[in-house]
Amino acid sequence: MDTISSLFLFSFFLFVTTIIFDKIKGLRPSSASKKKFTDHHVITDHSHRPKFPQGSLGWPVLGETIEFVSSAYSDHPESFMDKRRLMYGRVFKSHIFGTATIVSTDAEVNKAVLQSDSTTFVPFYPKTVRELMGKSSILLINGSLHRRFHGLVGSFLKSPLLKAQIVRDMHKYLSESMDLWSEDQPVFLQDVSKTVAFKVLAKALISVEKGEELEELKEEFEKFISGLMSLPINFPGTQLHRSLQAKKKMVKQVEKIIEGKIKGAEDKEKDGVIAKDVVDVLLKDSSENLTHNLIASNMIDMMIPGHDSVPVLITLAVKFLSDSPSALHFLTVITETLRMGNVITGVMRKALKDVEIKGYVIPKGWCFFAYLRSVHLDKLYYDSPYKFNPWRWQEKDMNTSSFSPFGGGQRLCPGLDLARLEASIFLHHLVTRFR
Ligand code: HEM
Repeated sequence: MDTISSLFLFSFFLFVTTIIFDKIKGLRPSSASKKKFTDHHVITDHSHRPKFPQGSLGWPVLGETIEFVSSAYSDHPESFMDKRRLMYGRVFKSHIFGTATIVSTDAEVNKAVLQSDSTTFVPFYPKTVRELMGKSSILLINGSLHRRFHGLVGSFLKSPLLKAQIVRDMHKYLSESMDLWSEDQPVFLQDVSKTVAFKVLAKALISVEKGEELEELKEEFEKFISGLMSLPINFPGTQLHRSLQAKKKMVKQVEKIIEGKIKGAEDKEKDGVIAKDVVDVLLKDSSENLTHNLIASNMIDMMIPGHDSVPVLITLAVKFLSDSPSALHFLTVITETLRMGNVITGVMRKALKDVEIKGYVIPKGWCFFAYLRSVHLDKLYYDSPYKFNPWRWQEKDMNTSSFSPFGGGQRLCPGLDLARLEASIFLHHLVTRFR
């Protein structure tokens, strides 16, 4: 499966990167663990003295990365987390992805970290990803600029206007695609959903919908994301270089679109123009920080989290639904699919200061891996967690710390409504036409 191989390649890349590059950075656990943990208390469990999470840092340099990656390929991908949770508890230390890391499979601890602000934790991505996104990417910026950007994007992506447009567009895209399906030909659902999801995203972000412009964008975007799994070496001939070139091309394409929009709007009142896409929303903002280059580059970066996640959600939902055809309430099917098979298994942060949460210490300079998937499969929170049971959501509250497929706090996924909507429309069309 596409995503699984991506995960493997990504992890492998991180692993190799670890050996070559990150070692020198030396987030040395031993020195960090000797520090005093004083300045920041998010949640304190007064019944215990603060404790440094137990666990193993694995092999020198390699840490526990190989075990982590190979468990993802085993019959029981949770085995890495489950084994350590049994030995050390829900929060433990490890050394994965080239970095000393506190891994948390505890809902409350994850929530506290995701809710904390950028003076305490900042996003952590590998070097290659940081280079491809650039310093001003929404995925990396912090503070007031991030809040502004995230707020503007989030409110547009959940606006009724956009939702109505997506319902219409997806009807068109899916009808055109499904008309071509025939009984004697296999249909690759993930490919179909990928094509549809890309069109929806490109239209919502920059109003590119069809023709050469869309094809060019798609082609360059594929080159761009191949680099997310490459070594952080940038010179002609390397994958990272090719990906950066592709991004440059796409940014130019979006800058041209922006120029066109500005010219078109010259005669009209700035505030009178209804925003048709995310670029319009950002152009209307008076903040000088939102330069055209920053907007253009961010439109490309925003395609990354939306690109694979929605197609995988749709494909898994169809699989689960076909195993359990009586479950026809799409919203609960999608929620249960996000619980059991979310492609985004966890999110990473870096601690900027020593932090104590629920009695656990997270040292300054260490990474924190909020492993959302283990929480979603924990029998403490879910009866028969490995059973696909969409009916559980008829009574269960989704707004709890034990269910966070879209993250939480200031970086809560701004595309969550869009993702759920796309998946619902896809299932609706599939079931009404082919049941
Ligand atoms: C099933 C689908 C999706 C899932 C499970 C998902 C999940 C997530 C998660 C867990 C985060 C938090 C990352 C963090 O805390 O570091 C996130 C962030 C983000 N997502 Fe999604 N996402 C999905 C679809 C989308 C779509 C369709 C878009 C459309 C543009 C999108 C745009 C973003 C952006 C821009 C961020 C970064 C927010 C920030 O750092 O402020 N996502 N997503």
